[in-house]
Amino acid sequence: MSAAAPAAKPTSAAKSDAAAAFARGLEGVIGGQTSVCSIEQDKLIYRGYEIHDLAAHATFEQVAFLLLEGHKPSADELARFKKEIVAERAIPASVAKFLTDAAPQLKAGTAVPMDVLRTAVGLLGHQDPDCQDNSAAANLRKSKRLLARIPTIIGHMQNAIDGRAFVQPDAALDHAANLLYMMTGRRPTTEEARVIDVSLILYAEHEFNASTFTCRVIAGTLSDLHGAVCGGIAALKGPLHGGANEMAMEMLKEIFASVGEAGIGTPKVDAWMEQAFASKRKLMGFGHRVYKNGDHRAGILHTLGRNLASRLGGTPGGLAATRWFDLGEQVQKIMLTKKNIHPNVDFPCGMTYFVMGIPVPQYTPIFVAARITGWCAHIMEQHADNRLIRPLSIYTGPAERRWNG
Ligand code: CMC
Repeated sequence: MSAAAPAAKPTSAAKSDAAAAFARGLEGVIGGQTSVCSIEQDKLIYRGYEIHDLAAHATFEQVAFLLLEGHKPSADELARFKKEIVAERAIPASVAKFLTDAAPQLKAGTAVPMDVLRTAVGLLGHQDPDCQDNSAAANLRKSKRLLARIPTIIGHMQNAIDGRAFVQPDAALDHAANLLYMMTGRRPTTEEARVIDVSLILYAEHEFNASTFTCRVIAGTLSDLHGAVCGGIAALKGPLHGGANEMAMEMLKEIFASVGEAGIGTPKVDAWMEQAFASKRKLMGFGHRVYKNGDHRAGILHTLGRNLASRLGGTPGGLAATRWFDLGEQVQKIMLTKKNIHPNVDFPCGMTYFVMGIPVPQYTPIFVAARITGWCAHIMEQHADNRLIRPLSIYTGPAERRWNG
């Protein structure tokens, strides 16, 4: 490291003006325009439709159409769209082989499902006849293929991990039910399928979040849709973003291991939390860059998850399904009382997927199966009205000096 004095000031007047608006992590900065989604403190809206309305009345396929095609589908349009997606579910043999070959690394933990999914999406790109075509029509075709195939990748990957023969997609099942079926080999109940369906609706889109912004930055160089989606997957993997749904559940498991079942509802949980606060630990599934009064999606999924838990029964992870929600609610209450921080959607997601028996490392890939719709909508919007995304920085390195001085 150099000991030279840091440059004190930005190098030009234009930069000096820009520096005045500098915000760490681009907090509060408007990074562009979009017609796909709007996040307000009191509302989350996909192309004009509010999230509670969509979660109560729409299906994931309808929302996917809305995001990708730009309008609510008619009955005919929806039927055609669903048929197209079902027809595109199969993955090339080379990608299936790659998933089988990745099983040892997945089991050893040197690879995690998000990494394998990212590579599999890259491989799909090599074989997509439209890969290098950024036209609107080609982008839409590629978006639909990825929407159809990502669940198959997740299912095959889980089958490979479990040492089971690949469960082939079931054309009679809707998107969410088929995803669960391919992962487990078991056809879900209507309620389970609906809960996953709603979770996909909630995860489908969220304006200029880190992964979507990544997709737009990549698309903004006129790079291709598969490449942009690979970037989106890499960004979503991080625990401060989509990876939080896995980490939230791991954290609850850690609290349970520490306090035991008898400790739930007692000050033992408060003590665990106090220790976490004292060590400045970030509690996963809590907080949000934009929402400071709570994430609109969290309450919707929490209610569905808790209701499902009471009907599913069972003792996932050695604890009755509803007791995980008892513990989660206690943690939420302590966070709110002590820190005034609300849960985000990843907190109830962790508990909900866990009581359904979904392996934890697949939670963020399932997020991808939903967010692919939002990412592709944004990539298409970027390509349709492109301007390179290239911000400035404030230089903090050494002042100018001579190489031969
Ligand atoms: N646990 C403990 N303290 C927190 C948390 C948390 N989860 N979130 C925020 N804080 C504290 C933070 O330490 C800071 O305190 P202080 O002012 O004393 O330093 C204050 O609240 C403000 O936090 P911040 O870090 O400035 O907030 P941010 O806008 O930069 O971060 C966040 C947002 C999501 C990165 C953060 O809340 C976090 O790390 N949460 C945990 C990870 C998580 O759940 N991510 C999912 C995000 S939403 C859905 C998704 O994208 O998948």
